[in-house]
Amino acid sequence: MDFPMFHLDWLNNRMLIAGIATLHVIINHGLAVGFIPFVTWLEQKGIRKSSKNQITDLKWDQMVYKMMKVAFIITTTIGALTGVGIWFSASLISPTSIGSLIRVFYWAWFTEWLVFVTEVVLIMIYFLTWKNSNSSLKAKIRHIRFGWFLSLASWITMVIIVAILGFMMDPGNWTNNPNLINGFTNPLYLPQLFFRTPMAMLMAGVFGLFLITLFAKKEHEIRHYAIRAASKWIIFWSPFTLLGAYIYYKAIPEGMTANMSTAVGTIDFAQYYNLLKYIIIGGISLAVVIATVGVIRARIVRAYMVVVPVLFVFAFLGFFERVREFVRKPYVIGQYMYSNLLLEEDYPVYQKEGVLKHATYTSVSEITQENKVQAGEEVFMLACSRCHTGQGVNSVVDVFERMMGTKDTLNVNTMKAYMPNMHTGRNYMPPFPGNEAEAEALAVFIRYLQDTRATIEGAQTKGVDINPNYSVEALIKKQQN
Ligand code: HEC
Repeated sequence: MDFPMFHLDWLNNRMLIAGIATLHVIINHGLAVGFIPFVTWLEQKGIRKSSKNQITDLKWDQMVYKMMKVAFIITTTIGALTGVGIWFSASLISPTSIGSLIRVFYWAWFTEWLVFVTEVVLIMIYFLTWKNSNSSLKAKIRHIRFGWFLSLASWITMVIIVAILGFMMDPGNWTNNPNLINGFTNPLYLPQLFFRTPMAMLMAGVFGLFLITLFAKKEHEIRHYAIRAASKWIIFWSPFTLLGAYIYYKAIPEGMTANMSTAVGTIDFAQYYNLLKYIIIGGISLAVVIATVGVIRARIVRAYMVVVPVLFVFAFLGFFERVREFVRKPYVIGQYMYSNLLLEEDYPVYQKEGVLKHATYTSVSEITQENKVQAGEEVFMLACSRCHTGQGVNSVVDVFERMMGTKDTLNVNTMKAYMPNMHTGRNYMPPFPGNEAEAEALAVFIRYLQDTRATIEGAQTKGVDINPNYSVEALIKKQQN
């Protein structure tokens, strides 16, 4: 609306953020928040395991170091880049919502930045001084202490970011009294934190178990000891993950139903929501099974047996993020801003006067007989393009064809009549933000897309058009009158 619209007509805009963000969360939870305390705990075990005249069990220490090396390389490359990538992609695709979030969470984000820098410094110290710290017991203990500080810093970054994620699902009291504290204490914050913390520990344990099977030689005493340790870690965190998931699962509908004005618990929501339950139980059970084998018969655990649990817990988190995104629809910030980046409170104006009239970037502000296709494209960009493409993933032509049950030429009048009711049957879509002439122009444009198979260009290739009402000429004319 107030920003030029970046658009990817094949991939779909949401997929770009989703892809980057999911990869980031998996790395963040599995290889930082959960993994660092896991590695530090193992490093500490090395001292306990060693004989009296040793600082640590060196073979053991070497294995743990190798595990940390994997985490170090992945978190400081893909992890850090995808973290920044979320910012780039989200500010391209959803600049208005990021703008709002920054205004609400300014100081939280500032703190986050400080904690993040601390985290980077600590991970450098922890990893790079590992070998040297084996020179004396004092140095080793200091090194382990750095590991625990690093664990704390990694967890605090999550503590801050989860507040913002919870806020986007349901801002709670903030809608009545907008300030940082009310934004932070949103109803889904603590339940989500209670879930994500043990979940990260569980993921780290399962991934760590996998690395142990790769790095420790078969039939070696260290291997069995390490498999047993990782298995105990997994078994310890599993009930907390289950409990956290339960608390969160119970909290979602309470937070979300407030958003879903009329048709609460529609098929779409219920389907996703139910699936989440099975995935949670399935993922945790699988981890517990392999961990039980690990405790009872560490000898038989092999890398290939751990691959499936690893993939499962990682996929589990990915799926969980997908559901969290889905149940939030039609809002990007619950009860406040729709996923098309328009504010709910502005809707009456758009529906009466038209959304084009109030858009900053549009080539058309008045619809005429001649400019319908062009006007329709602008309406599509403002109202549908954050979720639909012209010819790619979730293409608007496809969804209409599917709904009508035919690949035949789409009927403009039927599509036009559909627009004002689009949110009633499918409440993951925001209501249509325009007036009748705009609904018609949009329908004409969709028909044009079907006929020509044209793709839609975003501002990054097409350039920008300022609303003719806001041009310098128009403003001068207004002043002269
Ligand atoms: C918040 C994201 C979002 C926005 C904005 C959005 N849609 Fe959708 N729409 C979806 C999703 C998700 C589906 C379901 C796709 C599926 O089932 O594969 C869908 C489905 C549809 C369907 C098929 C409905 C059915 O009953 O099968 C139509 C038609 C449609 N959208 C039209 C539009 C139009 C026109 C706009 C713009 C005015 C729009 N949508 C805006 C997310 C959105």
